[in-house]
Amino acid sequence: MPILFKKTKEIRNYIKSLRCENRYTVGFVPTMGYLHEGHRELIRTSKIQNDITIVSIYVNPLQFGEGEDFERYPRDLERDLGICEEEGVNVVFAPLDEEMYPEKPLINIEIKGLTHILEGEFRPGHFSGVCTVVLKLFNIIQPDRAYFGEKDYQQLKVVQRLVKDLSLPVEIVPVKTVREKDGLAFSSRNTYLKPEERESALSLYRSFLLAEKLIKGGNKDANSIKQTIIEFIRKHPHVKKIDYVEITDEDLRPVKEVKEGDRILLAVWVGDTRLIDNWRIGDANL
Ligand code: PAF
Repeated sequence: MPILFKKTKEIRNYIKSLRCENRYTVGFVPTMGYLHEGHRELIRTSKIQNDITIVSIYVNPLQFGEGEDFERYPRDLERDLGICEEEGVNVVFAPLDEEMYPEKPLINIEIKGLTHILEGEFRPGHFSGVCTVVLKLFNIIQPDRAYFGEKDYQQLKVVQRLVKDLSLPVEIVPVKTVREKDGLAFSSRNTYLKPEERESALSLYRSFLLAEKLIKGGNKDANSIKQTIIEFIRKHPHVKKIDYVEITDEDLRPVKEVKEGDRILLAVWVGDTRLIDNWRIGDANL
C-alpha cells in the first residue's frame, strides 16, 4: 500500500528525510484522480526513471470556471489508492482544499501567447489555476522529474514554459497519449459519456486519421484540412458543438502549411461532455 499523506508538512518532512538519508530521485505524477490507463502510463514511466514515485490526487477548484464540471468531476480515493498500489506507487498526496488553499489565492499566472489561446480562450483563468496548483505541488514535493500526458498538450507546453521561465529545478517528462482500442483517448471525463454518445466521441480520433490521409495525399493546406475535420466531426449525431479545431506547430503557433511534427488540437462537445484531444502529424500508420 502507498503511504498516504494529507498534510503538506508531513509529506515535506518525509521527502526531506528521504533525501538526507539516501539521495533518492523523486518522480512526481500530478493528477485529479479517477485514475485510468493514461495515468498508469505516467506512473510506469516515473517508476522506470526514479527511485520513488509520488502521485498527487487533488481536484483543483482553481482551474474550473463557473458552470464547469468541478462538482460532478468523478472522485474515488479508495479506487485510486488501489490503482496506485497495483502500480507500485510509493507515496500518495491527497490534500483537502483547506490544506492547499487556506485562503483564496490572489495570484494570477499568465504566459504570453500560451495561456489565452485554444483552451485558454474557452476556459478563461483555467491555466492560471493549473499553474498555481502545479507550482504549489512542485514546492511541496520538490520532485526531480514530473510527468505530464500529451493528451493535455497545451497544459504540457504551459508547464514546460513555466518551468523554463522560473528556472524551476524539475525536469518535465512528456508521456504519449494512451488510447482505448477504438482510438478514444483515456480521460476521467469519458465516464460522463452515455453509451449512445461513444460513436460520436470517436469522431475526434477518426478525424485525425482522415487528416493524415489528406496530408499523405498531398494536401498541405491547414485551412482546408481544418474545414474537412470540422465537417467530418459535425456529421456525428451527438456532437453538440465544436469549440475549436486548430493546426499549429509544436509550440502552438498556427501554421498555414502543415508539416510532420505539427499538431492538430481540438475541443468538441459530445452531449454534455467536453472532450479535448490532439494529434502529432506523421504519427499515423496508414
Ligand atoms: O492534468 C491534470 O489532471 C491537472 O490539470 C493537474 C496537472 C493535475 C493540475 O491540477
